[in-house]
Amino acid sequence: MHISESRRGAGIAPTSNRLLGGLFAAGVALVLNLSAPAVAPAKPPATPANRNTMGAAAVDSARQLAADREPGTWMSAGRTYSEQRYSPLTGVNKASVKTLGLAWYGDIDTERGQEATPVVVDGVLYVTSAWSLVKAYDAATGRLLWAYDPKVDRATGQIACCDVVNRGVAAWKGRIYLGALDGRLIALDGRTGKVAWSVQTTDPKQPYTITQVPRVVKGLVIIGNAGAEYACRGYVSAYDTQTGKMKWRFYTVPGAPGDPTNTPELKRALATWTGDFWKYGGGATAWDTILFDPKTNLIYFGVGNGLSWSQQIRSPGGGDNLFVASIIAVNADTGRYVWHYQEVPGDEWDYDVTNPLMTADLKVAGRLRHVLMQAPKTGFFYLWDARTGKLISAEKFAPANWATKIDLKSGRPVENPAVRYTDTKAAIVQPAPLGAHNWHPMSFSPRTGLVYIPVTESSTGFASVKPEGFKINDRSYNTGTISGSEAITKLYAQPGAPARGNIRSYLQAWDPVAQKEIWRVPEKDYGASGTMVTASDIVFSGDWSGMFSAFDARTGARLWSAPVAANVVAAPSTYTIGKDQYVAILVGARGLPPGVVRTSAVSANNSRILVFKLGGKTELPGAPVGAQAAVAHTLNPPLMTGTNEQVIDGQGAYARTCAGCHGAGGVADKSIPDLRYSAALSSLKDWNDIVIGGARKAGGMASFKSVLADGDADAIFHYIVSQANRDKAAQQAAAKGH
Ligand code: HEC
Repeated sequence: MHISESRRGAGIAPTSNRLLGGLFAAGVALVLNLSAPAVAPAKPPATPANRNTMGAAAVDSARQLAADREPGTWMSAGRTYSEQRYSPLTGVNKASVKTLGLAWYGDIDTERGQEATPVVVDGVLYVTSAWSLVKAYDAATGRLLWAYDPKVDRATGQIACCDVVNRGVAAWKGRIYLGALDGRLIALDGRTGKVAWSVQTTDPKQPYTITQVPRVVKGLVIIGNAGAEYACRGYVSAYDTQTGKMKWRFYTVPGAPGDPTNTPELKRALATWTGDFWKYGGGATAWDTILFDPKTNLIYFGVGNGLSWSQQIRSPGGGDNLFVASIIAVNADTGRYVWHYQEVPGDEWDYDVTNPLMTADLKVAGRLRHVLMQAPKTGFFYLWDARTGKLISAEKFAPANWATKIDLKSGRPVENPAVRYTDTKAAIVQPAPLGAHNWHPMSFSPRTGLVYIPVTESSTGFASVKPEGFKINDRSYNTGTISGSEAITKLYAQPGAPARGNIRSYLQAWDPVAQKEIWRVPEKDYGASGTMVTASDIVFSGDWSGMFSAFDARTGARLWSAPVAANVVAAPSTYTIGKDQYVAILVGARGLPPGVVRTSAVSANNSRILVFKLGGKTELPGAPVGAQAAVAHTLNPPLMTGTNEQVIDGQGAYARTCAGCHGAGGVADKSIPDLRYSAALSSLKDWNDIVIGGARKAGGMASFKSVLADGDADAIFHYIVSQANRDKAAQQAAAKGH
């Protein structure tokens, strides 16, 4: 449990800081008055360099609205309110890009997934890393100006479905806003990184986490949360940027009948559910995209999956289960419901529609339309009228078998009945829960009219667990699903069945008006990575083979590449300091690219912020030397002592409880230890001290005592020992063969 920190009480933190801030401001005013000169001071020139009157991070509504007047600034995660991630800069262009080289880099002191887009304001680059750490660098030199660690209890890692990531900060009037993994919303002084205020936005007793970028809209900071795989009820809230006081909260699913939080729209939503789903919160967390559109004065957010995934368990009588898997538009001043569009009625495939949203002005059928666009997990690219939410078009941008098409009149998918599953009927669904496109930022160029999407093709099998055997444990997944069974294997063996797993990835250029692919660049290795596009018609994106590349936005031709010694999932940003254009990218994700050696003893994924400029000559540190090279790569497990039954039980328990972090089949796919190599395999006692006793809690491995059944920890131990011995034999055979 992670409720021990006393400073987590809602609103407790920083009254004193606020008071101090007030006093300080008053003091300054006083001094100025006393020393008021007889001659009026010269009006300061309105150059960006002089904008810094509010302190670092001096973004306000007027400045953000006029972002295009400062093309050298990247003042919010998507650069402008439209979240197009398009830069008007042209210093790096098709002719000059070949000379792009590393200007500076900073080592990131966590070895987990890195998903943040660097924000750059007034010469300072702000970036977050895993465990919600924030760093501020001199954007020209890479000098670290300050670092902030919210000291998130590492036990929170147990309830972070998809790694302990963070996607970045918002800058506003001298402050930097951070959503911390443990549910705190924190305002930092942009100059010093000191906490201005901090509020707990969630009930720390419930399995909520935050990984998304807070959005500041008209002086309110908007934040949602994650946790719909565990047991909670999703909502989005708005806090006053100055005081940290909550202004409004929008729940994404109804509470129990009669619950005072049930607004009129939630009362209507209640009719789309059956059963007692509210006992476990219903899920539906809005964990990523939050978009503000000044033209419509609407805030849009995408809502995730319901709890559990299995609809047979969640809502036994079926129904649409609003607002699961929906886009919701609320009034930006009041937070009140305006419209919703449910992409996946009655979702049971983890089709979150939390994936990035953007607005654009597009000529559709001869008419200029102000649209909202999304390429979500479902594999359909949606175009809506941004004001009304009316669907304009929706077509498949990736293979998808769950629906044949979206009916434009009703806005509903024409669902394939074969993909629904129960405890007695298995199904294969395409895409898999990872999605055709997940959180990885996409970008749009008003010049080419194309959207640049990191796409993955995938499929998976599903069956429901028996409803009577379903029990909630809020420290682990409660999806109510089985993804491996004989029935599923049989389905995959049928002719015409899609290939199993996450198969391949590509960078895709999509025409949102014609709703068709223009080009694609296949990735060498499976894995998606965020994109950015510039006015030089260059798309920047990283990949999982450890490269960061520039592509021709019109043809997909690769113009430039640099090795980055890490997998890349985050999206880049670009800015200018003086005459130089810089391109910044945060690297580091699951494990290392094929063939890349660790370059640091503490980092298993070489996490870094890398900043490039034309003619940059900085070298990345090379291969490891001495002690750093001595990371174990040879399997040395003890002999098998467990029974066959234990190994089989252990395999099941491992797949249910451990594989999400330690990797399928005991083979690590992220920077979380590969258990086959663990020193704890030498002693069952050491093993149990970790797995049951929580001895490695501080590193993010909390006790699984309340999750595992008796005997499971031992059984998993024997399973891992058996895997390690099998793989050791293979390793030795391979070594001999060479
Ligand atoms: C939420 C992610 C997560 C899950 C789920 C998880 N672990 Fe871990 N585990 C970690 C992390 C992170 C570490 C590294 C801790 C450290 O560095 O101190 C770790 C470390 C360990 C270690 C020590 C490895 C070493 O360095 O020698 C063992 C043993 C272990 N886990 C076993 C398990 C077992 C068994 C399960 C399933 C019952 C499990 N873990 C589930 C995240 C997880």
